[in-house]
Amino acid sequence: MIKKTETEKEEHYTSIADALRQGSGRVAVRGWVYRERGSNEMKFIVLRDSSNVIQCVLKKEKFTKQWADIDKIRIESSLEIWGEIKKDERAPTGYEIVADKITIVHIAEEFPINKDLNEELLGDRRHLWLRSRKMTAILKIRSTVFHAIREYFESKKFYEFHSPFLIPGGAEDGPTMFEVNYFKKKMYLAQTWQLYAESAIFSLEKIFTIAPSFRAEESKTSRHLTEYWHAEMEIAWAGLKEIMNYAEELVKHVIKRVIDNNKEELKILERDVKKLEPSLKKSFPRVTYDEVLKELKSRHRMEVAWGKDLRTIEEEKFMSLHDTPVFVTHYPKDTMAFYKPRDPKNPKVALCFDMLGPEGNGEIIGGSERDMDVEDMKKSLKAKGEKIEDYSYYFDTRRYGNIPHGGFGMGTERLIKWICGLESIKDAIAFPRTQGRMIP
Ligand code: 4AD
Ligand code: MG
Repeated sequence: MIKKTETEKEEHYTSIADALRQGSGRVAVRGWVYRERGSNEMKFIVLRDSSNVIQCVLKKEKFTKQWADIDKIRIESSLEIWGEIKKDERAPTGYEIVADKITIVHIAEEFPINKDLNEELLGDRRHLWLRSRKMTAILKIRSTVFHAIREYFESKKFYEFHSPFLIPGGAEDGPTMFEVNYFKKKMYLAQTWQLYAESAIFSLEKIFTIAPSFRAEESKTSRHLTEYWHAEMEIAWAGLKEIMNYAEELVKHVIKRVIDNNKEELKILERDVKKLEPSLKKSFPRVTYDEVLKELKSRHRMEVAWGKDLRTIEEEKFMSLHDTPVFVTHYPKDTMAFYKPRDPKNPKVALCFDMLGPEGNGEIIGGSERDMDVEDMKKSLKAKGEKIEDYSYYFDTRRYGNIPHGGFGMGTERLIKWICGLESIKDAIAFPRTQGRMIP
């Protein structure tokens, strides 16, 4: 049974952060027990809410009638506490509430998360682990990131546009699609909004979205999820340079917002903010795939055969000399998705880019101009075993007032992983989905 709460009305209640700011006088706070210890005479409770934690002290002499219940309070029990707040250097956040009234809303059962849980068990208890200070900090930063992405695109007069998630065919590589039984017909979960976005720019010209994308990734890496949140943009009348400018400004804007709004959270995560600052101040270098190969050879004695995709180890070696993201452009056309156009100046390469993140974070953004040559696209699709009929709606976009256009997609969890300095992308999202993780 849950006790009727008394602080339901907002005016009776102060967030812990506000109580700390108030610093003296009477306060009423509510939340969950983060830590507790006590003796026969006193109980110390560190209470947490979404804003912060604060130590509360309850003296038995003031609570003689309730003491038996107070004695049962365990980690994650929910409480409302009234009292005087005062400075106390020894308390975790520098203040303490001397309580004179308490409502025990719910006495928690023994909390199944303790210090010696391994990653797998924490994954199983993810729904409870979200309450940790680490996850709370990450989720707050994630919220800032999503706000900032939207804020950036809106400030540049982009419309928000939505594409279907159940789609008849692919855009990126076929084998990484999830199949869905759609009334006994085969459909797939979308890997990208892109092909639909390309239809919509003829109506709206500048569009963006933030939506889930799905990839049947079998690789167990610290950078791959099977469901991730994809921030994508598509723009009419634009070429590669302009598209890269948007990508760079977007990343700078998001980092700035997080540094400004989430100082406390970055501190909780022990993130060295100095590592992010160069990305605000410097422009991101732009180098071609060919130049990367040359540099790998001359500086790192790594030989990559022309035409091969860059592997993680090569990207990391190359990025080790950079403290900001770097655009790598003009990858070999043959390894690329069908919609990336040949560079008219060098038909062996495509007008495309990846933005690689520093600190070993790999590709954060992928983008390109879009091919205008329908025959060339059909050839690429056929070579990949795709059914051309499934794409006829797409080729229609090239038949009625075709224009140069392009766009990019950013993995929001990849960006959050970098900004927060996380070891695994799994911590950049509340309930990660990977090949081995479906529950909770
Ligand atoms: O490079 P990708 O495959 O590009 C596209 O999907 C384009 N259609 C985007 C566009 O131009 N509109 O994916 C874009 C980004 C990658 O740079 C990466 O950050 C992220 O999506 N991404 C993943 N993030 C988490 N887990 C995965 N399995 C991801 N696969 C791609
Ligand atoms: Mg890519």
